[in-house]
Amino acid sequence: MWCPIGSWERRMELRLEGKTALVTGASMGIGRYIAAGLAREGVAVAVAARRIDLLESLRQQIKAEGAIEPVIIEADLTDAEMPKHLAKAMLDKMKHVDILINAAGGSRPVKYDAPAQEWESAMMLNFFRLRELTTALIPNMIHQRWGRIINLTGTSEPRGSNATFPAKAAVHVWAKGLSREIGQYGITVNSIQPGSIISEQLMRLYPTEDDRRRFCREVPVGRFGEPAELGDLAIFLASPLASYITGAVIPVDGGRYRFAF
Ligand SMILES: NC(=O)c1ccc[n+]([C@@H]2O[C@H](COP(=O)([O-])OP(=O)(O)OC[C@H]3O[C@@H](n4cnc5c(N)ncnc54)[C@H](OP(=O)(O)O)[C@@H]3O)[C@@H](O)[C@H]2O)c1
Repeated sequence: MWCPIGSWERRMELRLEGKTALVTGASMGIGRYIAAGLAREGVAVAVAARRIDLLESLRQQIKAEGAIEPVIIEADLTDAEMPKHLAKAMLDKMKHVDILINAAGGSRPVKYDAPAQEWESAMMLNFFRLRELTTALIPNMIHQRWGRIINLTGTSEPRGSNATFPAKAAVHVWAKGLSREIGQYGITVNSIQPGSIISEQLMRLYPTEDDRRRFCREVPVGRFGEPAELGDLAIFLASPLASYITGAVIPVDGGRYRFAF
């Protein structure tokens, strides 16, 4: 199975040592890279997803590098009780939470008249559960007067119908409001819009070489991105160095987004 976490070379002192983080969607792709990257920076990480075997292989990879072994939490975020359960498990195991990476999610291409259930389930996973989990962890961040919330969202430039797009847009607007409410406690809230970062879902959406070549014609840099090319931004945003960046929506898409504003 394809699940690289890249190689490590320290380029900037991020002052992350001693922090704790919860990373959802850590079994694959971008979330997996970020979880490993934070661990390499001295963060105690809890990793959550449904596929425990992949989280276990991540734990082994991180352990082999001599970084702090992550705590594994099995979590299906379609379950209504999961946000509360996950927040409690995080706080029971780590005692506090400094960083929340909301990476769990996925694309749901649909026709405009797809059944309501398809639109609702995309909204549930990509917005409602993300909001509920974040809400459950904010009191702890307020208590310690420090926190970082980073959401992996998606394009605001749809080329067709996709049940996930409105959910990602909802995250942008919700996160902006939230950032204004809790900035006074030293908590920042930012969203990163991945464009075409190599991942399981991208391979599923563009299964053949031809599909991928066609897609890459729309990307100014002419290729897919690596998880590291986005993940390192998330790790920077999670650090004390990024204390004045909040309420932002930042695309990492090889220039595919066309508008200046
Ligand atoms: N790659 C891109 O260019 C791109 C573009 C637009 C948006 N995004 C967004 O960026 C985030 C990361 O994407 P990726 O490309 O790295 O995706 P990916 O490789 O497909 O990984 C998705 C992650 O989400 C987890 N997940 C999915 N459904 C879940 C559920 N019901 N409960 C708990 N975890 C669940 C998966 O874990 P399990 O299956 O093990 O549960 C996996 O770890 C997603 O939110 C995605 O929508 C990515």
